[in-house]
Amino acid sequence: MTSQVRGAQLARLLGQWHALPGRRRSPDYAALAGAVRGLLADGRLPLGVRLPAERELAEALRISRTTVTAAYRELRESGHLASRRGAGSWTMLPGNHRMASTGLWTPSDDRDMIDLGVAALAAPPELLPAARAAAEDLPRYLGGAGYHPTGISELREAVAHAYDERGLPTSPEQIMVTNGTQHALDLVLRLAHSPGGTVLVEAPSYPNALAALAARRARITTHGLSVTEPGWDADLLLGSLRQVRPKLAYLIPDFQNPTGHLMPAELRERVVATAHAVGTDLVVDESFVDLPLDGTVVPPPTASFDRHSRVVTVGGMSKPFWGGLRIGWIRASAPQVQRLAAARVGVDMASPVLDQLVAVHLLDEAAAIVAARRAQLTVQRDALLAALAERLPEWRVTVPHGGVTLWAELDGPISSALARAAEEVGVRLAPGPRFGLDGTLERFLRLPFTLPAADLVEAVGRIAAVRYDLDRAARPRWREPAVIA
Ligand SMILES: Cc1ncc(COP(=O)(O)O)c(C=O)c1O
Repeated sequence: MTSQVRGAQLARLLGQWHALPGRRRSPDYAALAGAVRGLLADGRLPLGVRLPAERELAEALRISRTTVTAAYRELRESGHLASRRGAGSWTMLPGNHRMASTGLWTPSDDRDMIDLGVAALAAPPELLPAARAAAEDLPRYLGGAGYHPTGISELREAVAHAYDERGLPTSPEQIMVTNGTQHALDLVLRLAHSPGGTVLVEAPSYPNALAALAARRARITTHGLSVTEPGWDADLLLGSLRQVRPKLAYLIPDFQNPTGHLMPAELRERVVATAHAVGTDLVVDESFVDLPLDGTVVPPPTASFDRHSRVVTVGGMSKPFWGGLRIGWIRASAPQVQRLAAARVGVDMASPVLDQLVAVHLLDEAAAIVAARRAQLTVQRDALLAALAERLPEWRVTVPHGGVTLWAELDGPISSALARAAEEVGVRLAPGPRFGLDGTLERFLRLPFTLPAADLVEAVGRIAAVRYDLDRAARPRWREPAVIA
């Protein structure tokens, strides 16, 4: 299914295309073609999208049609546009290039490596006491078989209560406990998605969610986020939903991974209403919702605007507490939870009781634990920002007011080359294209601030050193593949 970008929408995306740096001597058509190529390379304009007719774009940009005709011709010649008479023109990359953004990645235990590929904190000090207390609780469960496909009731109650506190009334029957948020997403896809169905995702987005979608043979269509706040373009996002009418949309409205953006309340409401109107189910990933920084007020949960069970929410313990716990959940309608549980018994039966008990104890103390996490993340983010400003001042970053990552705009399309070079000096990076689908996003890099400040500063120093040699250095090769999370 091809979506179309209208003249006014493309004009807004193009912004000040005629005044881009370094275009002084190039004619208008070349500058326009260059600006379209830039949008494609950044993932802001998806591949396979139909561009407006020449006349429509000319009117929207208030330029002559001949200029647009010449720009489209240049884009066809450079391999960025395919046209068929009577059917229009679609965006593409030269040679129909598509780079896999997903694949088999295994963790590496190289202790000397500063791993900026993983955006997750080490366990909090409260974990060990919680694990001991959980072991004491365990005898209460040992008389039963231990299989609880929707989760043990005390954890379902604690999770439901947390939604209540956020202003989203939730009963424990609406919660299903999973082995992490990724598992939650996979289970939701099993139920809500059939192979070949279209799914709308943000670009950039979380690589392992893209992997889950690829595994389910989703036809993915993207909504390009801008680097600056708020990130989502309401008109384009709602327009894509109306045009493409995807079966599903997967969104991360709360401190989006990787950009850190926070979707405003008004847009949440409009997305839910539009999704309902066009028959799209929304899967909302709240992995980072507990981690606002700088006193940021988090808008109401996306599901609070839902009157028709269109929104399924997934979340978990990994980001505020610890990834090694492998506890996540799904919030859906009670009948949906029953269907999910029936699907789940064909996968893994149930989550470990002991780990669920640990989660209950941690959630009991959530306020204090999460407050400390936020304070820690604020210090680390600020150290990372200061190091970037000092060592790599050409890079543009939007300060994230929550979550655990920032999305840097680099001084060239160097992300993958930089990641290869950084690996040689002991820094593992997740380059921009890992967060997209088609080899775009080479001018971006996700940087998590989950490691201690000293490691972040050291890593930036090493990255800066290799960045400035990049053009001269021989191309290093990849070592071991590594997990990105
Ligand atoms: C947006 C998003 N969803 C899901 C996950 C996976 O979380 P979990 O460890 O709970 O499976 C992550 C982890 O980075 C994430 O960033």
